[in-house]
Amino acid sequence: MIFRLGLFDSGIGGFTVLRRVLERHGNIDCIYLGDTARVPYGEKRPSEIREIAKEITEWLCSQRVTAILVACNTTNSLAFDVVRDVSGLPVFGLIDSACGMITQTRVGILATPATTASNTYKSHIKSLNPGISVFQQSCPAFVPLIEDGIYKYDEIRRIATKYLTPLLDQNIEELILGCSHYPLIETLLKELIPKEIRLIDPAIGLAQQLDRYLGHSKHSEMRPYSMSNTKFCVTSDPSGFNQKAENYLGSFSEVQLVSLLPKACFS
Ligand code: DGL
Repeated sequence: MIFRLGLFDSGIGGFTVLRRVLERHGNIDCIYLGDTARVPYGEKRPSEIREIAKEITEWLCSQRVTAILVACNTTNSLAFDVVRDVSGLPVFGLIDSACGMITQTRVGILATPATTASNTYKSHIKSLNPGISVFQQSCPAFVPLIEDGIYKYDEIRRIATKYLTPLLDQNIEELILGCSHYPLIETLLKELIPKEIRLIDPAIGLAQQLDRYLGHSKHSEMRPYSMSNTKFCVTSDPSGFNQKAENYLGSFSEVQLVSLLPKACFS
C-alpha cells in the first residue's frame, strides 16, 4: 500500500509532530497544512474550531491522503470526531497518545485556553485511571510568542515561569506538553522545572501509534529525519512561514499557498 499522511496545525506547531513521525518511520510521503490565516486556534470558540477542522479535513481528502494526523491538541480536544467522521480515514491524535505515556499519578498539562476549557485531557485521563490527579494550566501567550520566533526568548522565559508555578506548587511528577507548539521550547521548559519531572511529548506516542498502520516494527530506531518527501502548504503568508520554519528547523523546502475552498481542491 502507498501511504500519504496528512498533518495539520494552526501554524508551525505541527512540525514537532512531523519530526517525530519522520524520525521513527523514515522519509514517508506527507502533506503538512499550516492554517496560518487563522492561527492561533487556542482562543477560538469550539464551534469555530469544529468548522475549521471540517474544512481542513475535506481539503486533505482532496489531496488524496491515506490517513490524517491531527497535529494540533486544540483540534484533538474539540473536533477529533469531525476529522474522523468527515474523512472516513484512519485518524491519529495526540491526546490518546499522551494519555498512554503517563506513568505517574500527579500530572500537569500545559495547553491552550480552548484545550483546557474543553477538559478533554482531564476526562480522558480520569477514564483511564480515576486515581490520577490532573492539573491543567492554560497558556494563552505561548503560541503567539512561539510563532513570533525564537527572538522573544526572554519574554517566553518570563511567561513560562508564571505558567509553571501553579503546577510546580502541586508537586506534579509528569508534565504533558499539551500543545504541539510547546516542544519547540522544550529546552527552556526543562531549565525551569526540577529534573525529576518527566516531560511528555504526545508526538512521541503518536509516532509509535503509527507502527501498525505503516507496518513498521515497534522497535524502529530514531534516525535523522529528512523532510524531502513532505509537501508544505499554508493558508496565508508562505514566506513568513518559510522564515519561521528555517529559524526552528534549519534549511527548509518550498511552501505553497493554498485555498481551502472546495472549488480549489481539485485544481
Ligand atoms: N498547536 C496547536 C495545539 O496543539 C494550536 C495552538 C493554537 O493555534 O492556539 O493546540
